[in-house]
Amino acid sequence: MHRLRLGVNIDHVATIRNARGATYPEPLRAAELALAAGADGITAHLREDRRHISDHDIDELSELCRRRGKPLNFEMAVTDEMLGIALRRRPHAACLVPERREEVTTEGGLNVVAGHNHIAPAVQRLRAAGSRVSLFIEADPAQIACSADIGAQVVELHTGAYCDAARAGETDRAEAILDRLRVGAAQAAALGLEVHAGHGIDFATVRPVATIPELTELNIGHFLIGEAIFTGLAVAIQRMRALMDAARAEVAA
Ligand code: PXP
Repeated sequence: MHRLRLGVNIDHVATIRNARGATYPEPLRAAELALAAGADGITAHLREDRRHISDHDIDELSELCRRRGKPLNFEMAVTDEMLGIALRRRPHAACLVPERREEVTTEGGLNVVAGHNHIAPAVQRLRAAGSRVSLFIEADPAQIACSADIGAQVVELHTGAYCDAARAGETDRAEAILDRLRVGAAQAAALGLEVHAGHGIDFATVRPVATIPELTELNIGHFLIGEAIFTGLAVAIQRMRALMDAARAEVAA
């Protein structure tokens, strides 16, 4: 079975910094600490409205990841502006996400089926620039098939609805969504796609997600940054890593 990598999303370090228009806390320092604590890569979302991560943060994070030989996973909307930035920075990975200005966080996955005509050329250009292209989608059979058709190398399955249902104690709903994630991961892997997952994952929801055998990477941010307030970022990441490893060992047993 694949080793499960942990990508730590440091967007919300920037959210805290920007709440005061200050220069601290620095996402770069969080990224250094995350890598030292066992993160396999750094994930950052440069939003169109720059509400958290800035262009300068992306420059610094790109440089850090390059120096450390670790992947930077650049989350981006499929816009000309973001495409231009990604093509100049050539991050290890580009994860295409839907984005609406008024949303609090990325709601739902990218509609690859409906957006096929403008997403497919973006995938091709990013691939030609050397980035590994991932599409952030719901575990929906048509979205998965279309992602493979247009040449994405990776799909990241949206775990937000599962995590919300599990946290709300809606056990049946959570189990049904988890089943869709399992089936989707198997379908994607059978199509030759690398399968990642992320959004809303915390210490309680990581185990069921991490037991899906086709997954190779989880991207986790908001919960870890929140938990860092209480335990420090390194401890939070190490605990998440341990829970992921324990879940994997359980499947292998
Ligand atoms: N993966 C993707 C594609 C995302 O857009 C996000 C949120 O930016 C995450 C993972 C991380 O989600 P969370 O911050 O809820 O852990």
